[in-house]
Amino acid sequence: MAQFHLQIHITGRCNCRCKHCYIAPNASELSADDVERILKQYERLINRIRKEEKEVLPFVYITGGEPFLHRQIHEIFALIRIYSDRFTFRIMTNGTVLGKELMEDFNSLSIPCLQVSIDGNEKTHDFIRGEGNFKRVLEGLDTMYANGISTRVSFTAHKMNYMQFPEVAEICRQHHVGVLWSDRYVPCQDNQVLSPLNPMETKEYVEILETEKRNSINHEVSLAIKNIRALQFLASGEYPYHCSAGIRALAVDEKGEVYPCRKFALSCGNVFENDLEEIYYNSDVLRRLRAERIPQACKGCRHRKLCQGGSRCAALATYGNYMREDPGCWLCDREQA
Ligand SMILES: C[S@@+](CC[C@H](N)C(=O)[O-])C[C@H]1O[C@@H](n2cnc3c(N)ncnc32)[C@H](O)[C@@H]1O
Ligand code: SF4
Ligand code: SF4
Ligand code: SF4
Repeated sequence: MAQFHLQIHITGRCNCRCKHCYIAPNASELSADDVERILKQYERLINRIRKEEKEVLPFVYITGGEPFLHRQIHEIFALIRIYSDRFTFRIMTNGTVLGKELMEDFNSLSIPCLQVSIDGNEKTHDFIRGEGNFKRVLEGLDTMYANGISTRVSFTAHKMNYMQFPEVAEICRQHHVGVLWSDRYVPCQDNQVLSPLNPMETKEYVEILETEKRNSINHEVSLAIKNIRALQFLASGEYPYHCSAGIRALAVDEKGEVYPCRKFALSCGNVFENDLEEIYYNSDVLRRLRAERIPQACKGCRHRKLCQGGSRCAALATYGNYMREDPGCWLCDREQA
């Protein structure tokens, strides 16, 4: 069954200042009442999709900023308890602020795992995420393990760190992580320090992921490596990825702004002015995303019907045009673009 993903960025507050982050940390926060209002709007949207289109499995990702710094996190946990019969919830954290009380309350939710981020070996992770944060995230992983919580790790790849994916896989094995996945860095906020992968580096990166996934199958310590993001199918040979932004994914930020995806920095409305349902069905950007796209540079590619140009957020960030091809794809014919 098709899934629908809603990311709610409940807070702009964060204890880190990561060099790659698409969020400029800020003091804005959705209150627990605001989050409930968004969940109700989401329920109406899902009901309409079910009625007019097809059955979908709705997911809600609670994220930030750092969601565990939200002033009303326990009230938000209470909402998760109420809405768990309707939506599958997940939480994404930087893993550095996990206290005893928080872990106990989290454990009473029906959420099977927590996601944290590791962006390289200690030197690289600390360069990107701030001094001492590598040790803190490993302590966080150990705390979660001690509390019986399964973990997923997200690795955001750019020029500086993509070769370190195997090292991160090893770190994950040492700290009982269940799943490791990765996606590419999407340039944001005039970042002058980090650079996205060029096509040849992207090819090398997806091959590294595939090699690590194969090695992992026979490894004595179990770790599932998921390579299911844009262009990763080109190395895995699996079913082509199709960007779901605005089709089966939406994101709401800490001010209520609605985006097709949080990495896709084009606001389509605000939940305090219009219902999610109205925004989803009426926004020109979202309607355009649901129409077929085959960028000129992809016309000769055998994957064009399913892949339809790869990552829209990367195209928007690089060319200012989300209808263009993925700037990381090495199969595109850019003479045609
Ligand atoms: C915005 S953070 C929020 C959750 C938490 N604070 C954390 O760091 O995991 C969610 C994820 O987005 C990733 N991310 C942030 N900026 C990004 C960018 N410009 N491109 C790609 N991923 C990015 C982070 O590395 C993290 O894995
Ligand atoms: S911890 Fe997460 S939200 Fe905070 S700055 Fe880093 S990537 Fe951004
Ligand atoms: S050429 Fe275009 S359609 Fe083909 S794999 Fe690359 S991005 Fe996807
Ligand atoms: S906009 Fe980017 S991150 Fe979001 S679903 Fe599309 S390719 Fe994936």
